[in-house]
Formats: sequence, C-alpha cells, structure tokens
Amino acid sequence: MSPDGLERDPDPVLPGRNAHSAVPRRRSSARDIQRYASLFAQRTKVMRSSAMRDLMALTEREDVISLAGGMPDTSTFPADSYAALMNTIAGESCARALQYGPTEGFARVKECVARVMAAEGMEIDTDEVLVTTGGQQVIDLVCKTLLDPGDVVVAEAPTYPGAIPTFSSYEADVVQVTMDRDGMRVHELEATLDELERSGRRPKFIYTVPNFHNPAGVTMSLERRRELVRIAGEREIIVLEDNPYGLLRYEGEALPTLHSLDDEFVIYASTFSKILSPGVRLGWAVAPAPILQKMQIGKQGSDLCSSSISQYFVSAYFDAGPWDDYVRSLLEIYRRRRDVMLDALAEHFPREAEWTHPRGGLFIWATMPDYIDTTDLLARALREHVAFVPGRAAFVDGRGGSAMRLNFSGVDEDAIREGIRRIGEVVREQVAMYGTLTGAGGSVEPPRREAASRADVTAAAARIAAERAAAAERTAAAPRAAEAGGDSAADRVGRTDEDLAKVLHMPAKHKRAG
Ligand SMILES: Cc1ncc(COP(=O)(O)O)c(C=O)c1O
Repeated sequence: MSPDGLERDPDPVLPGRNAHSAVPRRRSSARDIQRYASLFAQRTKVMRSSAMRDLMALTEREDVISLAGGMPDTSTFPADSYAALMNTIAGESCARALQYGPTEGFARVKECVARVMAAEGMEIDTDEVLVTTGGQQVIDLVCKTLLDPGDVVVAEAPTYPGAIPTFSSYEADVVQVTMDRDGMRVHELEATLDELERSGRRPKFIYTVPNFHNPAGVTMSLERRRELVRIAGEREIIVLEDNPYGLLRYEGEALPTLHSLDDEFVIYASTFSKILSPGVRLGWAVAPAPILQKMQIGKQGSDLCSSSISQYFVSAYFDAGPWDDYVRSLLEIYRRRRDVMLDALAEHFPREAEWTHPRGGLFIWATMPDYIDTTDLLARALREHVAFVPGRAAFVDGRGGSAMRLNFSGVDEDAIREGIRRIGEVVREQVAMYGTLTGAGGSVEPPRREAASRADVTAAAARIAAERAAAAERTAAAPRAAEAGGDSAADRVGRTDEDLAKVLHMPAKHKRAG
C-alpha cells in the first residue's frame, strides 16, 4: 500500500485500462461495507467462500510450494501443439471461433464428449449432452434446477470443497455421509435417508465423486455403486455423479460409472480440465432429457454459451490425433508424483499421522492426531513456504479439523519431497509440543531447529490446554467414554470426529513404517 493509504492499480499500463493515469482505488472501510450490506440478498448471508480459491492467492506466490491446488500440470502440454492447434483454428474457423455458440455446445464437441465417455465404458446419445463451462458449472446448474432454499443435498464427508460454495449459494441444507476406503458408506446413507424421511424431508440429490475422490483419494467399490443406484432408483432420488478423475487411474481395474449402472436417476458430470486443460473451462453434463432442458435454460441465464474458442480448441485437438496419448503421458507423470508423495509422507510424517493411498486422481487425504488443528497448522506451514488445504474446507459442520488435502499433480517431484518434508516438520513440532505439554511423551524427536517462536508456543499451549479442558468435559459427558474410563484419542475428540477418525484411517500397511 502507498503512504497515502490508497491502493493503486498494480499494472497501470494494462492496455485499455487507465493507460495514462493510474486511478487510485480506495480500500473498503467498515462504513462502506455496512452501506452495501443492506443491499445484499438474503442468500449472501449463508454463502461460503471456497477455502481452496481463497488459498490460491497465497499459494500462487512463487516462493510457496503449493500442495493446495487441484492443479493438473499444464506445463506438460507441448507448446508447439498448442500453437499448431490455434493456427489451424485461425486458418479454418477464425470467425466462428470468435462468435457466440449454441447454449448446449457445438455438435463437434459433443462428439468429443461421447468419445471420452466411451473410454469409460459409456455409450451415449449426443442429444443427452450439455457442454458447460467446466464441471463446476454442472454442479451450479444442477443446484439451480433442483434446489429451493432449505432443500437437502446429501454429500460425502468429506466432500469436494469447491461444491460447498455452490450448495451454500443456493441455500441448501447439506447433510454429509461418512466414507471409508470403499467410498460413501451406503448403509449410513440409507439410515440418513430414513431419518430425513421421518422428519418429512427428502433430499433433492445425492452428490458423489466415486472415482479417486477429491479430497479423500478413495474410490467407491462396485458393490457400493450398485447399492447406491439401487437406493436412488427405489427412492427416486437423483444422484449427481461427478467424475473428473476416472481416466486418471494409476493402478487397478476401472469400475463402471454410476451412469452406466443407471441412467434414469443419475446426472453425470465430467470435464476436460484434468484430461486436457482446466484453462479451456469446458465440462459437460449428461442427464435425463427433462432435467437437461431445465439446466440448459439455467445456462442461458448464466453465460449464454461456453467459450467458442475453447470448444474449437477441444475439437481441433481431438481431430489432430489420438486424444488419449496426452492422458497416457499424464498418467506416467502423476503416478510417479503420487509415489514420491507417499514415500515422502512415510519418511517425514510422524507415525501418529495416517493417509490414503489413491489409485488415481490428484489427491491424498492425510489425518493428523486429533489435537492438531490443520487450519492453525497451515499458518505455520505458510511460514515455511508450503501450503495444503485444511480438512475443514471439505465439511459444512466444522469437522475435518485434523485432516489435510495434499495435491501431488501440480508440482514436480523435488518440490513434492521438499513440501512434504516441511509440512512433516511442522506436524512433528506439534506432536512433540503436545507430548511435552501433556506429559504424554511425543513419539517423535523434538524439532531439530528453533522453528516455533515463543509466541507460537504460548498460543499453542493455551489452545491445547483449552482443548484438553473441553475434551475432559466431553469425556465426562459421554457415558460411553466415561464407562471406558479412559482418555483415548477417540474419547477426546467426541462423536463427530470419532466418526471422521474411523472414516479415513488407513490400514497399517499405509502407515509410516516403524
Ligand atoms: C470433484 C470435482 N468436481 C468439479 C471440479 C471442477 O472442475 P472444472 O475445472 O471442470 O470446473 C473439480 C475440480 O477440481 C473437482 O475436483
């Protein structure tokens, strides 16, 4: 900020923008905010920002190793291929690429969609496809089409953090069903649906990411897929199947999509973001015709149509050669990065931590001991110039406080090793400090260097003391815990985190050796 307290345009010579005079912009004062607050729609009061998007500004800094984004590595796409494709578009379809397109998308792009879906074992009619502005827009349009304020959406716990702002801006009541290594627990889903029914409520849809879940890294088993579509069919509840990662499989056999098991109650969403480029901002939905029509009208109001330039790019890319060659090259790179991250976790994280072992996708979900708050930990990690997504971003009710999402696709192998080493160090400091303060004895060596400042230690000690007091209260209040008479980790965290702890804990073989 300048000495006069005014923010100036960071790049006053951007063409077309204040090229000759940098017009100073004033920061919003509390009074300004108050003035506009009365204008805001009711829904803005429950709107939640995406922690991931908020983090992006921080993690975009060059000096931060970001394991926070959900970023594919776009540097792997050959620049000369990009140039050649754009050149073809310029030569053959310049005016059309620069023009508006149909709301539902160009027929040639729908053909590309059909080819991608065929690669995942689905045969579709291109009339069933709506080309969208990313997979994100499918979530938005489904909400726009199906939700009234207060309607229930069932999602996994944890769920895709980027879906939460969408659900919240349509004022959905999100109910989360826990997961384990086989994905959403469908028995719990049934019990949840029964409970909702008893109170006269019926979810408008069930949102799930069955393949290589973001953020959990797990995949729904075939048995559960069958169960889920059975439940949805019997109860006539829509399932929104979000499948951006299905083709990013590093090991094991592909499982049928929910859409291939049932196309009556499943809305299918996917995207070119992870198999080609998120920059093209193109995804798609396949849905029963009446729903698709409403979504299309919704899309007219949102953006008229998705970018024609991007659509021409995608179709030129598919015309130019085997589209899946690039995906295969990504698989090699991401598989190695996943393995590097798993090895680094085993080397640098304390044995109290656990993590998932994804067979595909972009994410590992790591769970710390319950006394570690990963939102606090992120502040420490940022001081070490490394970032991750704190687990709470994937819950609507404050759960996930000791978990973190780690992305292994966006940075190279050295950066992954170094990033995990740095996070491991801050985690180990916390574990050691907890051990010292509670007399429980940390299971890790004390940090090798004086990383934590006196203020950090004091603040953490105060927080841990408060947590212990609250935990003791919970233990006293919980008959089951009191009966056990112990102060086990599960007792300390209480019911909801106890569930979470069970949910994504790893079998011993994925834990740190030794
Ligand atoms: C599960 C899930 N759904 C949707 C999206 C949005 O993808 P897109 O870039 O296609 O909008 C993402 C992006 O990371 C995702 O992980």
